[in-house]
Amino acid sequence: MNDTADCSTLGDKTALRRELRRRRRTLSPSQQKQAAITLCQRLKQLPEIQRSKRISLYLPVNGEIDPTPLLPWLRQRKVSIYLPVLRPFSANCLWFVAYRESTPMVKNRFGIAEPCSRFAADRRNRLPAWALDTLIVPLVGFDQQANRMGMGGGFYDRSLAFMRYQGPAPTLIGVAHACQQVATLPVEPWDIPLGMVVSDTMVIRPTKTG
Ligand SMILES: Nc1ncnc2c1ncn2[C@@H]1O[C@H](COP(=O)(O)OP(=O)(O)OP(=O)(O)O)[C@@H](O)[C@H]1O
Ligand SMILES: [Mg+2]
Repeated sequence: MNDTADCSTLGDKTALRRELRRRRRTLSPSQQKQAAITLCQRLKQLPEIQRSKRISLYLPVNGEIDPTPLLPWLRQRKVSIYLPVLRPFSANCLWFVAYRESTPMVKNRFGIAEPCSRFAADRRNRLPAWALDTLIVPLVGFDQQANRMGMGGGFYDRSLAFMRYQGPAPTLIGVAHACQQVATLPVEPWDIPLGMVVSDTMVIRPTKTG
């Protein structure tokens, strides 16, 4: 069981992020591998994933759970796959760029591999976030209500801010290791809620209110 009480009382988001990032970094390579396989088995069973034709996922860093075992299955099903790319001239915002076997990749300023700027600059290789069916989102922490704590840059919150308004919108699936769960997270006014969190041990959906 997770040490949820300790972390949820830390209060300070920076300290909580540090602690949660430390937890996932302590996982061994074989624990990471097993978690990734189990996560992807769960994802494949979700109706939201099964009916998606356009999915964005991410390439993991710093102990993030790895969603890439899903790739062969998605490609076989002819699903179009996208990756988040740091958007130029637009602070802390993301583009969603096609990730094909031939997509040229570079490392961004965080050391994360992403489609190169020339490829991403071509509009034909991008999709607006509202046109994605599903976004698989990394996170640092989550709670029982599927609230999300990210890396702290507000990248996803900014890029998905349109979801506050009516209109087409993707299903947001946060993915994480079970050890990233805390009892309750602070929710900020700008946080965009997830549709669910999927970990290697469970699926959590927010309780509907109102
Ligand atoms: N739609 C927005 N417009 C402007 N600023 C925003 C928006 N969303 C978030 N921010 C800013 O981003 C900063 C970080 O937000 P937050 O702490 O929620 O990050 P996070 O959700 O952990 O990060 P990420 O989404 O990158 O994983 C906040 O200081 C907030 O002011
Ligand atoms: Mg946020």
